[in-house]
Amino acid sequence: MIAGLLVLGLAAAAAIVLRSNVAVAPTGTVLITGSNRGIGLEFAKQYAAKGWTVIATHRRDDVPDSLRLLRDQYPSVRIEKLDVLNHDEIDALAAKLQGTPIDLLINNAGIMSTGDPASAQTFGTLNYDLFDIYMRINALGPIKVAESFLPHVAASNLKKIVNISSSAGRVSRPPPHSGNMWYRASKTALNGLMVTMVPTASKSGVSVTMFEPGWTWTGKNDKNRQEGQLDPAEVVAAMIDTIEGLTLEDTGRFLARDGDTQSW
Ligand SMILES: NC(=O)c1ccc[n+]([C@@H]2O[C@H](COP(=O)([O-])OP(=O)(O)OC[C@H]3O[C@@H](n4cnc5c(N)ncnc54)[C@H](OP(=O)(O)O)[C@@H]3O)[C@@H](O)[C@H]2O)c1
Repeated sequence: MIAGLLVLGLAAAAAIVLRSNVAVAPTGTVLITGSNRGIGLEFAKQYAAKGWTVIATHRRDDVPDSLRLLRDQYPSVRIEKLDVLNHDEIDALAAKLQGTPIDLLINNAGIMSTGDPASAQTFGTLNYDLFDIYMRINALGPIKVAESFLPHVAASNLKKIVNISSSAGRVSRPPPHSGNMWYRASKTALNGLMVTMVPTASKSGVSVTMFEPGWTWTGKNDKNRQEGQLDPAEVVAAMIDTIEGLTLEDTGRFLARDGDTQSW
């Protein structure tokens, strides 16, 4: 009898020790732009599954089915409309969420194509009218979102702003061809703008980082997965791991999804 009680007591003590050694990832509130499909939707799904409060934003007139389904599955998902081209809408959402700390802001929304032929972004046949839309969505949108939501992030526990950039924004490596000019320029501009906000963000303890996710298949336009394209679930899981380990010391860095430093 006494021996049995002793064994039970030892087992309970071992369980307590084991439990206290298991690192529990912190949860919080994440706001994601362009979260109705692709990489943004994958972030929303994975953070919701981890128990985070997810403010999932989209630019559509009606709530996208993808987000409706996610909210049905996870009541902690809050859906809000946010077109990053619309600065009044950005300010209105920031005002609506005043007093809501946002631990992690993910500037994910972006365009890689306007549906125009590739020649429109290729040196020699450039369509100059399209430059503006790439810059306004991919560079100005994120910096405006960051500017409007910095107080919310500064008021949080984790204090992180993450920007989904691209290897296309790198200028240190010669590109394989002279295409995607407007997209490339917009991602270079995004990196430059975000690095420039670092001194202000640092004053309130907020880190600002840029990520290159890798060439990821998002099923856009029902296109089949091409050889070499990565699985969005794996790409986002890797970025979430890296984001979890970020501290203020990482601010201003341009990172691969696994946390390796990318050259500018
Ligand atoms: N996939 C890749 O291989 C890859 C590689 C490097 C970097 N990235 C970057 O990763 C991010 C996500 O890309 P993705 O592949 O997931 O693209 P995606 O499947 O085309 O999704 C883009 C998302 O951004 C939204 N969006 C576009 N313009 C917007 C606006 N004005 N306001 C708010 N939302 C807007 C889209 O909404 P709608 O559904 O309404 O269009 C959609 O939700 C982008 O910044 C992209 O540049 C992707």
